[in-house]
Amino acid sequence: MVIAITNQKGGVGKTTLAINISACLASLDYRVLTVDMDPQGNSSDGLGIDTNKLDATIYDVLIHDTPVSEVVIPNQLENLFVVPANISLSGTETELSSDISRPFKLRKALRPEVSKYDYIIIDCPPSLGILTVNAIVASTDLLVPIEPNSYALKGMSMLMSTILKIKEDLEHYAFFLGVVINMFDIKSNLHASIVEAITEYFTARKIFKTKVQRNSKIPEAEIHGRSMIQYDPKDKAAETFMELAKEVIEKKS
Ligand SMILES: Nc1ncnc2c1ncn2[C@@H]1O[C@H](COP(=O)(O)OP(=O)(O)OP(=O)(O)O)[C@@H](O)[C@H]1O
Ligand SMILES: [Mg+2]
Repeated sequence: MVIAITNQKGGVGKTTLAINISACLASLDYRVLTVDMDPQGNSSDGLGIDTNKLDATIYDVLIHDTPVSEVVIPNQLENLFVVPANISLSGTETELSSDISRPFKLRKALRPEVSKYDYIIIDCPPSLGILTVNAIVASTDLLVPIEPNSYALKGMSMLMSTILKIKEDLEHYAFFLGVVINMFDIKSNLHASIVEAITEYFTARKIFKTKVQRNSKIPEAEIHGRSMIQYDPKDKAAETFMELAKEVIEKKS
């Protein structure tokens, strides 16, 4: 199962979910590979990797055909492995432009890895460019984090039409696993009404029951290069991410 966590809107929680769902799945004894497809390298940072000191990254995989197995870094959590990214990835768009196999680069690179892991989780950048297209084409499933604000639904039609275009033009169908509501405020009437609108748009079946509330421990853990279950396993956010990971497992079993 290869899950791309995607939304072209910035700062909605893609990286946070990639880090924490990966870590929770690993702690539940699944073998997990987290693939950082964002030149910002946030999921690499958030999983304790010094992105300034990397010999090889996902960039080398996409551009120099370096095998994924040569760039994988093990995390402190026993079953968790990371394919890191850093700023070098930002040139990929132009560097790949003459390559006709450009949308399929990641899919091809991950092929020998699929049987080694129970879950591969891909963190996407905040755009619908070639890196996100590669991530979607490489995945079996899509997970979309949404922050419930008044612009949340506006970007969705763009994302959905990209997914549709990939299905039609590249003949790749990734299953829409669902939407995760992030930074949710249970006391906010506005949030409640936006969640209602999101539920109407996607149908209730496509909304994860577990909603992630705003919690200052989350960015704190990321600064320390840890997932929540490593940083503060007793915190409410760690429990929430564990519930989310279990929902991911349930949705596919
Ligand atoms: N539920 C939450 N409560 C508090 N802070 C959060 C929560 N979710 C995410 N954050 C923080 O908000 C910021 C943006 O989140 P994150 O990096 O996960 O978003 P993103 O969608 O990956 O952003 P980008 O589009 O830039 O890649 C980060 O500092 C993160 O720690
Ligand atoms: Mg991110």
